[in-house]
Amino acid sequence: MTEPAVSETTPPQPGIFVAFEGGDGAGKSTQARTLAETLRANGCEVVLTREPGGTSIGEKLRSLVLDHGHGEVDARCEALIFAAARAAHATQLIRPALARGAVVITDRYIDSSVAYQGAGRGLPAVEVANLNAWATEELRPHVTVLLDVSPGQGRDRRTANDGAEDRLESEPDDFHARIRQAFLTLAAQDSEHYLVLDAALPVAELAAFVAARVLPLIPRVPGDQHERLD
Ligand code: TYD
Repeated sequence: MTEPAVSETTPPQPGIFVAFEGGDGAGKSTQARTLAETLRANGCEVVLTREPGGTSIGEKLRSLVLDHGHGEVDARCEALIFAAARAAHATQLIRPALARGAVVITDRYIDSSVAYQGAGRGLPAVEVANLNAWATEELRPHVTVLLDVSPGQGRDRRTANDGAEDRLESEPDDFHARIRQAFLTLAAQDSEHYLVLDAALPVAELAAFVAARVLPLIPRVPGDQHERLD
């Protein structure tokens, strides 16, 4: 027997899973936080998390893979560390939260590995995608918000924020240009699943687009007169 198709409005678990993706300096963290606040104001349980991270082992792997000082890190080694952190994240944090009906918002997920370790480091995109499908037992977000940022603008924003760049951020502009293209390609291959936004838009405008896409996915809260939260 074939499995029924999974769509955004018929999630396999009661919760909703939203991922934010984009180049460094795209403003993902701000938008993820704003969406979390909007949903909480609507009475939702929200788990706001990030990759690499979200679990104790994930945070350790984060500093291992992002810190300078390990010399040159092999691309496969790097891909495996991100995937290992993601496996822990999916099993220990994301799935349990979805099972109890929470909205999980993650700042980065599998697309970041396909873009950075694939297009950025030169590993085959399909292999990186397969590794991560295995690591997460095929756990996919219901919607992925891609904040599209040019390498120049991303760099300017990073400098304006704190100036300190991690190992990946400090790669040259052509690395970030490949990553940008990879994110856009992933979105174009599955356009229904993605909300692609120009990261140069004002923060409030971006937040409104994100809310308009995500709120209709949230099931009705008991006692609410409205079908959905929008
Ligand atoms: P991020 O948390 O967005 O950095 P910051 O908090 O400094 O804005 O991401 C950390 C870096 O890790 C970023 O440069 C992208 C990179 N990264 C990968 O290369 N592969 C991955 O799978 C993930 C999740 C992140």
